[in-house]
Amino acid sequence: MTDSQSPFVDWFRKSAPYIRQHQGRTMVIVAGGEVMQSAGLPDLVADVALLNSLGVRLVLVVGSRPQIDARLADRSVVSRLHEGVRVTDRLALAAAMEAAGTNRVELERLLSMGLPGSPMAGARVRVTTGNFVTARPLGVLDGVDYGFTGRVRRVDHEAIGAQLDAGAIVILTPIGYSVTGECFNLSTPELAAETAVALAADKLVCLVEGRGVHDGQGGIHTELETRQGRAILASERDLSTDVRQHLEAAVHAVEGGVPRAHIVDRRADGALLRELFTRDGIGTLVTDELYEGVRPARLRDVPSLLRILEPLEEQGVLVHRPREVLETDIERFVVVERDGLVLGCAALYAFPAEGAGELACLGVHPGYRAHGRGEVLLRAIERRAKAEGLRRLFVLTTQSVHWFVERGFAPGSPAELPADRGGYDPIRGSKVLFKTL
Ligand SMILES: CC(C)(COP(=O)(O)OP(=O)(O)OC[C@H]1O[C@@H](n2cnc3c(N)ncnc32)[C@H](O)[C@@H]1OP(=O)(O)O)[C@@H](O)C(=O)NCCC(=O)NCCS
Repeated sequence: MTDSQSPFVDWFRKSAPYIRQHQGRTMVIVAGGEVMQSAGLPDLVADVALLNSLGVRLVLVVGSRPQIDARLADRSVVSRLHEGVRVTDRLALAAAMEAAGTNRVELERLLSMGLPGSPMAGARVRVTTGNFVTARPLGVLDGVDYGFTGRVRRVDHEAIGAQLDAGAIVILTPIGYSVTGECFNLSTPELAAETAVALAADKLVCLVEGRGVHDGQGGIHTELETRQGRAILASERDLSTDVRQHLEAAVHAVEGGVPRAHIVDRRADGALLRELFTRDGIGTLVTDELYEGVRPARLRDVPSLLRILEPLEEQGVLVHRPREVLETDIERFVVVERDGLVLGCAALYAFPAEGAGELACLGVHPGYRAHGRGEVLLRAIERRAKAEGLRRLFVLTTQSVHWFVERGFAPGSPAELPADRGGYDPIRGSKVLFKTL
């Protein structure tokens, strides 16, 4: 096997764009207390340390529900839950404080490791914790007094930001402090979401006890808009409490301005790395970003389409499509717009008999490139193709091979094109690229 065929070399190279993409970005990673007693904890901690060494600004939020339950059980105390939320009396609060403290110390211990030969050799990770979260009581709801169960009132994003600037990983446990000098037991997903919003984080990553948000048909949703997330939360869909609470947190964070929230199976080996360093990730992505400004084209868009496509046709980048063809095919097009101005377009020509679709006429106005609009259009066409039941997408391109390869396309041969596409122009000599959906 030559080096270039080695899966490791291939993987490492493919992850390079993500390494650059994540550098200097702020991420909030949250997991329930189950993670603290799992065999995968040391690996997860090593992955967190790796992200830190790649320049990712990290806040780690870890819950303590099972540890509180265990402490209360040891003391023969029956804890009350109402609507999945703990009613925190004095005994439960004492258990919550102990559990949070112990988890915090355990994480600090693991993040301090660095023996030669271990994944954390020489890592020298700095860890900070502190009184970053102000809380208020949840109060009385439906006649139930939640006692020391609290809600996040304020996250001191400046203090956390200063620690992140200094290269430290900030650990938060679900205890908040009030100006009246009390402690409150917080919901871990809510704490993570509020922290991500307060920090204007780039990502919230929720490590959950399940594969992601299941779609009710045996699979999981790979992408959700916030409105879809809200609809699922309002529906009868049978989600585990853990997934439900994290979906709520993810939607809240994205609505609060966090561009992307990921809901990932904590138990999958390397879940964090796979979600962050592979193109399609492994869990459910909650975002409104991909859909921002993309809509089906309308007839009145034809002049705008011509403004984008004609110069590219003149340069020989795209094949000429006269105005009449655009008008006839307008339903095949999507456009990306901002403030009413069409900035880019793409079209899908379906060949259902072969389960394939052609991505055509992808173009972004030169003044608006390199801001992710090409990618947004590609995703929109991919969604449309999937919705039409197509399994493969192909594109013919002369000058953008790399752009497509970096987005999951692989070179193919003209012989693989659908028979009823109307042939292939050998003089033009376009490269043919395929992507499995
Ligand atoms: C290809 C195109 C649609 C991308 O649009 P965009 O909005 O700039 O795309 P994105 O912002 O999602 O991606 C930008 C990234 O792609 C890179 N890129 C742009 N054009 C590229 C090309 N032809 N080949 C390889 N990479 C390219 C940019 O350098 C940028 O990379 P960076 O983030 O590392 O700097 C746009 O460049 C375009 O309209 N090109 C002319 C038409 C064309 O070639 N269409 C495809 C044939 S059907």
